[in-house]
Amino acid sequence: MQSSDLEIFKDWFSEYTRTFYTDNAEDRRNIDLKVRHTSFVCENIVGIAKEEHLSDNDLMLAETAALFHDLGRFLQYSRYKTFRDSISVNHGRLGAEILGKENILRHLPLHEQQLIMNTVKFHNAFEVPSFEDQQNVLFLQLIRDADKLDIWRIFAEYYESPEEEQTSAVGLGLPDLPDYSKTVLSCLYDKKLATLSGLKTLNDFRLMQLSWVYDLNFRHSFRLMAERAYIQKIAAVLPQTEEIAGALSIIKKFVREKAEVKLHESTEL
Ligand SMILES: [Fe+2]
Repeated sequence: MQSSDLEIFKDWFSEYTRTFYTDNAEDRRNIDLKVRHTSFVCENIVGIAKEEHLSDNDLMLAETAALFHDLGRFLQYSRYKTFRDSISVNHGRLGAEILGKENILRHLPLHEQQLIMNTVKFHNAFEVPSFEDQQNVLFLQLIRDADKLDIWRIFAEYYESPEEEQTSAVGLGLPDLPDYSKTVLSCLYDKKLATLSGLKTLNDFRLMQLSWVYDLNFRHSFRLMAERAYIQKIAAVLPQTEEIAGALSIIKKFVREKAEVKLHESTEL
């Protein structure tokens, strides 16, 4: 692809997303959240992909995939007023459908179109599906890391902001009670990814977000996570129990090892 293609895609994305802004302040906040999220995910993916020494063409393709990864969010929100796929629509699939229908990628070689479509379609799958094409796997790993890094930012900001300023769809409507589920917590101890199903409280959701460290793929992602102190920010709003403290130390150790941060550089990770 050409760099002019990327510029055209960016313009198209701005025009497209602009049509979803309404007079309602809450709607505007939710749409704005995804527009900002998209630009940070683009930044993240380029940062990670550069560390992985991708070619210039692949860098542009990765940025395009990031630009469109949440394309389905806008229609999802305007139709259902939620970002919960389980009660509305799979936003990855919807995004790929919109890309196809609008034929926005038509000027790219077919294999590049397919690569981007698959990345958008499966970016939110529980696991990376198996592909014969290793580039597809690589792109899914890249988008999933870049996406998670920015979702951590969104949650860290959400938890830090006063209730009246919180963007409604971020917390998935889960109640902010002191309880948490042992099943979700045990995922942190077992170094497993927790699932969305079965979450009952906002604390469960926070614990699930922490479990995402077990699904990060690239050293640079671990480094960005450590630099941005997302674990500490999420930990600050969790109940201060011994079992949670135990889980947090396991996660911190895991991130520290993956980031290969020397102890003297970050003993407080
Ligand atoms: Fe997404």
